[in-house]
Amino acid sequence: MKKLIVGNWKMNLNQAGAKELASRLQPSERAEVLVCPPYPYLQVVRETLGDSSIMLGAQDCSQADNGAHTGDVSAGMLADMGCEYVILGHSERRQFHHETSYGVSFKVMAARRQNLEVIVCIGETDGDNQEGYTQAVLQTQLEESLPDGLSASSLVVAYEPVWAIGTGRVPSTEEIESTHAFIREHLNGLTADFDSIRILYGGSVNGKNAKSILELPNVDGVLVGGSSLKADEFNQIIAAAG
Ligand code: PGA
Repeated sequence: MKKLIVGNWKMNLNQAGAKELASRLQPSERAEVLVCPPYPYLQVVRETLGDSSIMLGAQDCSQADNGAHTGDVSAGMLADMGCEYVILGHSERRQFHHETSYGVSFKVMAARRQNLEVIVCIGETDGDNQEGYTQAVLQTQLEESLPDGLSASSLVVAYEPVWAIGTGRVPSTEEIESTHAFIREHLNGLTADFDSIRILYGGSVNGKNAKSILELPNVDGVLVGGSSLKADEFNQIIAAAG
């Protein structure tokens, strides 16, 4: 299975910057690459990528298909704009928009109705980690965020410890591997074909640490924030996958 390298641009860049970044990305035969720009720049990024193998995704979607939901964007609109993936349940959505895991599961269903692949984010806070609750937190987030009957082929799980996001603090490779193995084991029972679900690591991934993380057996790719905004560094991460 090819590694999946995802750039989460969050609420950064302007139109010209998004275009410039997209134009400088170098796809690789050995990895699948996905970029998730802010909604207003989906079109310019799609046009800039042209027929490149780099895929387009979004950072969130509504749980509703359409209607009176001021400010929201539906999964159908994302599919219409050429998105193949959507990130759901990112910790910044959980933290700043009070999204619950059950709420995330409704968004997963909405995305699947439009055949979007979903990247469901889970991760413990620093406090949970210090108190030894990491596995319990991840287990609950997985159980509540994944709707019944989800097929493994449409699901990617991203493990992002909240304390590692944007901080430069990264768990050891042993910790990442053992947490990913725990997640995989726990997916057994929640979905069929759990062996084929891709589990990404996210949190302060950069050009220097990407290779050692991507080499871990249960790491099927990375979800990259800050370092995905610099073309050279993101290209280095893409190259580290092969
Ligand atoms: P970071 O963000 O790479 O800047 O730590 C990762 C993420 O939030 O997806």
